[in-house]
Amino acid sequence: MAPLSTAVLTTLLVTTSLAQSTERVWSSVAWILYGDRTPLLSDNPTLTPLGAQQLLSQGTALRNRYLWKSTPVDSDSSGDNIDNNDLNDIAPIHAIERNAINNRQLKAMTTTDTYTLASAMAFFQGLYPPITQAISNATGGLQAATLANGTIINYPLDGYQYPHIQTVSRLFNPNSIYLDGSSHCPSFLQAMMNFSSESTPSSNLSSSSSFYASLYPRIFNSSSLPLNQLDFRQAYNIYDYASYQHTHNPALSDQFAEGELPRLRELASSEIRSRHGNLSLPIRSIAGRTLATQTRSLLLENIRSAGYTNKLNLMFTSFEPFMAFFALAKLDAGASRELFRELPYPGG
Ligand SMILES: *[C@@H]1O[C@H](CO)[C@@H](O)[C@H](O)[C@H]1NC(C)=O
Ligand SMILES: *[C@@H]1O[C@H](CO)[C@@H](O)[C@H](O)[C@H]1NC(C)=O
Ligand SMILES: *[C@@H]1O[C@H](CO)[C@@H](O)[C@H](O)[C@H]1NC(C)=O
Ligand SMILES: *[C@@H]1O[C@H](CO)[C@@H](O)[C@H](O)[C@H]1NC(C)=O
Ligand SMILES: *[C@@H]1O[C@H](CO)[C@@H](O)[C@H](O)[C@H]1NC(C)=O
Ligand SMILES: *[C@@H]1O[C@H](CO)[C@@H](O)[C@H](O)[C@H]1NC(C)=O
Repeated sequence: MAPLSTAVLTTLLVTTSLAQSTERVWSSVAWILYGDRTPLLSDNPTLTPLGAQQLLSQGTALRNRYLWKSTPVDSDSSGDNIDNNDLNDIAPIHAIERNAINNRQLKAMTTTDTYTLASAMAFFQGLYPPITQAISNATGGLQAATLANGTIINYPLDGYQYPHIQTVSRLFNPNSIYLDGSSHCPSFLQAMMNFSSESTPSSNLSSSSSFYASLYPRIFNSSSLPLNQLDFRQAYNIYDYASYQHTHNPALSDQFAEGELPRLRELASSEIRSRHGNLSLPIRSIAGRTLATQTRSLLLENIRSAGYTNKLNLMFTSFEPFMAFFALAKLDAGASRELFRELPYPGG
């Protein structure tokens, strides 16, 4: 349940105030983490079938919440209150197409990482599943589906639907900062130069070194990580590799002693939180700042179009902006801090 609840809370950050004040949802912005993938240390990290299933479920969950087919809440005087604490509650977006995708109502952005783009596609398979004879004006209406002799033709694969997904390259598209503000930011990288001498990192570095060394012969001897790089500065990459082996490699999964994988995860969360969630310098949390800026812009676009465009906005990205935003918004110090001090789970 942990992965889902993280997703719920992050998805709802931006819809709460809209939904509660008027009980009509005009627009929603969701930040979505890619699913289970092969390790970053591998040649060509790629989404696994498990990862695709995670995203399909997440797309289905958002479909149930935002594209719900019941009476619109605004015409319901019986007090169908939207309780934003539970993704199972419905919050139908006003006048959104329920069955046939209308790309003008949506905005989906992803980085060019193949596993993130594939995650976006899997998510859409759940959000707008295949449907036959969904005659929508957005896809040309009945006329476009019908031949002159009267035969109606469906899209392939029993009515597969084609989402418009914008891929933004970190190298060539300045808008990529809205999905990933830190990885190509010279000032951020500069601020990372003394990372291992900062207070929390240096304490974690020394307290974890013997733990990492003890795992080397069992878990990392066949990885591309040499023993002298197996330390806290690589905590995320180490956890990422270990967690993949634990899930997918029968020879290694029983090499872990109780508590070892959770400790690796805790160290990885600490590394990412220290890098992106240390608020001493504004540049440290840049990934969260750009993500928040874009979120506001997307909602403004919906307002500017009088609710016609940007009904559902989906930002597919990596974990750094999440951790940076959790710190910026002080979620990592609030009532649910345990949840927000951890890395989000795949598909969250
Ligand atoms: C589709 O377009 C036709 C012709 O413009 C219009 O009469 C109809 O109301 C539209 N249907 C929907 C669901 O918007
Ligand atoms: C209509 O035209 C298509 C394409 O030429 C053909 O495959 C189909 O059998 C025709 N349908 C009828 C009812 O003649
Ligand atoms: C890193 O530390 C050195 C020496 O402690 C200092 O001169 C330098 O300004 C620091 N660099 C950054 C980016 O903080
Ligand atoms: C946060 O970053 C500053 C450098 O900007 C560093 O001096 C400080 O030790 C860091 N805080 C923690 C808790 O590591
Ligand atoms: C590496 O770990 C595997 C799995 O435990 C083990 O079978 C193998 O002997 C180890 N190799 C070395 C060089 O330690
Ligand atoms: C990292 O260091 C901080 C400060 O000493 C400590 O509170 C935290 O528990 C450490 N994290 C891990 C995973 O060891």
